[in-house]
Amino acid sequence: MTVVEALIKVEREDAYANLILPPMIRDLEERDAAFATELTYGTLRMLGLYDRILNSVSTRSVLEMDIEVRAVLRAGAHQLLSMRTPPHAAVDTSVDIARKFSGQSGSKFVNALLRRVSEKDIEEWIAQLSEGKPRGESLAIRHSHPEWIVNAYRDALGSWEECELLLAANNRPATLTLVARPGRSDGSELVELGAEVCALSPYAYRWSGSLRKVAGLIDGSVGVQDEGSQLVAILSSAAEVIGQDDRWLDLCAGPGGKAALLEAIGIQRGATLTANEVTPHRAELVRHVMVHPENVMVMDGTDMDLPASSFDRVLVDAPCSGLGALRRRPEARWRKSLRDLAGLVPLQEQLLLSALKLVRPGGVVAYVTCSPHIAETQGVLERVLRDNSFELMPIPAPYVGNTLQLWPHKDGTDAMFLALIRRLN
Ligand SMILES: C[S@@+](CC[C@H](N)C(=O)[O-])C[C@H]1O[C@@H](n2cnc3c(N)ncnc32)[C@H](O)[C@@H]1O
Repeated sequence: MTVVEALIKVEREDAYANLILPPMIRDLEERDAAFATELTYGTLRMLGLYDRILNSVSTRSVLEMDIEVRAVLRAGAHQLLSMRTPPHAAVDTSVDIARKFSGQSGSKFVNALLRRVSEKDIEEWIAQLSEGKPRGESLAIRHSHPEWIVNAYRDALGSWEECELLLAANNRPATLTLVARPGRSDGSELVELGAEVCALSPYAYRWSGSLRKVAGLIDGSVGVQDEGSQLVAILSSAAEVIGQDDRWLDLCAGPGGKAALLEAIGIQRGATLTANEVTPHRAELVRHVMVHPENVMVMDGTDMDLPASSFDRVLVDAPCSGLGALRRRPEARWRKSLRDLAGLVPLQEQLLLSALKLVRPGGVVAYVTCSPHIAETQGVLERVLRDNSFELMPIPAPYVGNTLQLWPHKDGTDAMFLALIRRLN
């Protein structure tokens, strides 16, 4: 019942499952809470596949059904096809819940459809639905992603084989990573609590217990931050600036993960970080994690009321489609569309242009997205860096090339993109 209510809330109110579910299952036994979490998140990730299966056994499209019936059917399909729930138990529970929401007719309908679904296992369904389909569509079916996202990943990765590894990684929940902000925590208390040291960022610790045990989260010495997000902040602070290097700007700082890390690194090197964010409530979140909240400002990053060449180092962590972080939000893939890019790409270009004015000649701009979509990464660079006032800097070893693209399936991080750009004159 709780799971179906959560699925309805996510759809009807555009809610985020990872925000609404925890309070709904707070009073459940640990085992029941884990079951409800797996069922809710799994159903949301896989509903593209389940809808195709349900459509193939129903004369009415899933999207034309009542929202309650749709939620019961999707959760029932997940139990039947992807969890170890015995089929009779999955069908009987779904029928009971459907009766509560939609009476006798709803429960009969659910009973009939789920019995049909239970006639094949997931591999047989995938084989039937994918037969004769082009590669992109069959991967979209198998791994339950919108086809346009599959094609965007394929374009960025250059092969269907790698694309498939990424799609599978998106369906595995991300591990939780903590950052021990330098100068504020050395991470030893995290190790004592059982955290594992990570490989890419010297400040990153993998965490699998309850966050309530981590005292550093309260005083801000520790934060929750993907390792890739830490790595791009570290590389942004390490790129060589010619001359003075103590005026740093984070142009799009909310909610403040990278700003807090950059500020901590900057303090150790005698630099001051100014953090800017256009949305006041997100700027407030940045203030909470910074040592110097007075250095947070609220301005439109495309039109900053500051003199040109004011900074030695600028980070542009641009608002983006977030296609690199789909494993974190189970419903996210269904909420995005190609149309979003049409609005985001011009904004990304404006923000990068603004940063290139705010940095002084000899200084460095780091352009970052948590999307690997080529239009938001290489496409933005190609359009903005047309003249020879700027140069792309090599990403430091052990990485190779003039840009860095991290991947969940290769690096265990979100798919963060980084370019380091030096202003020449
Ligand atoms: C990808 S997020 C930044 C994440 C952040 N750097 C972190 O690590 O926590 C992009 C941010 O840019 C902000 N933003 C969007 N448009 C902006 C603009 N015109 N000027 C400044 N910030 C903007 C969004 O509100 C959002 O908080």
